[in-house]
Amino acid sequence: MTGDTVNLASRLTATAEQGEILASDDTRRALADRFEWVDAGALDIKGFAEPVRAWRLLGLRPVAREQRPFVGRHAELRLLQGELAACRETGCGQTIFIRGEAGIGKTRLIEEIQRKATESGFACHSALVLDFGGGVGRDAIRALARSLLGVEVTSNTEVVHAGAARALSSGVVAGDDSVFLNDLLNLPQPPELRPIYEAMDTGTRSRGQLDLVARILHRKSQQAPRLLVVEDLHWADQLVLMQLAKLTTVMAQFPALLIMTSRIEGDPLDETWRAQVSGAALTTIDVGPLPADDARALAEVLIAANTGFAERCVERAAGNPLFLDQLLRHADESQAVAVPGSIQSLVQERIDRLDWADKMAVQAAAVLGQRFAGSALAYLLDKLDYVPERLISRLLVRPHLASEDVFLFVHALIRDAIYDTLLRSRRRELHQRAAEWYADRDPVLRAEHLDRAEDPEAAQAYLAAARSQATEYRQEAALQLVERGLTLASDRIDCFSLTCLKGKGVDGRTRACSGSR
Ligand SMILES: Nc1ncnc2c1ncn2[C@@H]1O[C@H](COP(=O)(O)OP(=O)(O)OP(=O)(O)O)[C@@H](O)[C@H]1O
Ligand SMILES: [Mg+2]
Repeated sequence: MTGDTVNLASRLTATAEQGEILASDDTRRALADRFEWVDAGALDIKGFAEPVRAWRLLGLRPVAREQRPFVGRHAELRLLQGELAACRETGCGQTIFIRGEAGIGKTRLIEEIQRKATESGFACHSALVLDFGGGVGRDAIRALARSLLGVEVTSNTEVVHAGAARALSSGVVAGDDSVFLNDLLNLPQPPELRPIYEAMDTGTRSRGQLDLVARILHRKSQQAPRLLVVEDLHWADQLVLMQLAKLTTVMAQFPALLIMTSRIEGDPLDETWRAQVSGAALTTIDVGPLPADDARALAEVLIAANTGFAERCVERAAGNPLFLDQLLRHADESQAVAVPGSIQSLVQERIDRLDWADKMAVQAAAVLGQRFAGSALAYLLDKLDYVPERLISRLLVRPHLASEDVFLFVHALIRDAIYDTLLRSRRRELHQRAAEWYADRDPVLRAEHLDRAEDPEAAQAYLAAARSQATEYRQEAALQLVERGLTLASDRIDCFSLTCLKGKGVDGRTRACSGSR
């Protein structure tokens, strides 16, 4: 780690008293739902231009803040409720796969459907595939099995032993299956079973485990229909994916639904996976952006949504409820232009997964803006036949439907966040290249890129750009360019020409001034 984060962390650590925890404003904001904080004032920290606000941790919030009301998603809810009803009536289940970009509301939709399922007599069991820490990418099946047997992931060994004994005595698990039951529950094999277990290869163990899960599900779903949820398949490893494929092929045998979720980027249910389950019922639901009215309803819960700020956030979030929530959390400050830290880290995670060439390409594209020409990007990368195919397949950019050489970032906030990751020197270099590209194509964009490249020619370029706008009778735009040029101009002659252009009211008739340099 390098940069401000390290500096800030070490200064906060040094400032904290014994037994005290200080956090930065970003950290406090990200954890506002879970913890109580008290303002610890502003600290002057070397390397930071402005004083930095720090927060002292008081403790956990006694109760999690009431969840905000659920909005929209009527079609998805209706479809899912229909599947629940069909499952209960026919006694046959199936698998439903819910996909969508990060923060679009997959988990929230599942919570809603779990609530409705519980109301209509389903028992719910859920498992998470984790990307970090214990059980990374695995153990989703174990978590489901534990939940079906009434022992939670956090239960201690005695509780797990008791759960196993209950499963055996009630007949939910047959005595012959003890070895697999122990395996599923991570219990040590007793001496009499150890040789049998040790003689098995991993394939046999995994098959045995899965067959046992199916039998448990069969018996348990006779007591009450079941809703099984496995979230975040984008982090699942091959073993979990294989187990879920097998489970999908048997779901029709019981009154139970299996719902799985994944982000679209990194969706692991490819053709091979789908071929494994061919013949089994599998419904895929793509969760798209919230329509503007629903997004406004969500914003209203947080702040008075009729303010200009709320409306700007709704627009900027483009239907992503997580982005909207994060943007609105900045409502107390005048930081409306910054990309919130949580979005920044989501995007950073995606960039980290790119190889070097794709990373360079996506950063160069970010310098060009939310919408960019493929040929301009190729020029910046110095690869004339470059086409951003891999960025498209990674769902970072998409082709413009109407024009061939034009591409768009899938989300404006993603472009902003990528732009923010660029080091200043690299950013300047890329803006310089972009200015070259626009030199005989677009004087306004040339000037703006030179400006961001901190090039001394920028003032002059604004002069040229203002003139080009003036000749096309775009006075307002020309005036803005002159103003920006004036703030940059250090050269007396540039100042003179710009002032002259401004003084004459910036229109087509001012060209008389232009010969002065
Ligand atoms: N329909 C909705 N009504 C109200 N709030 C919503 C809705 N959808 C999402 N949200 C809120 O938006 C945020 C992000 O939603 P959620 O966690 O469900 O996204 P996700 O698709 O599961 O993202 P990830 O891929 O990161 O798991 C949450 O705070 C959630 O409560
Ligand atoms: Mg989620």
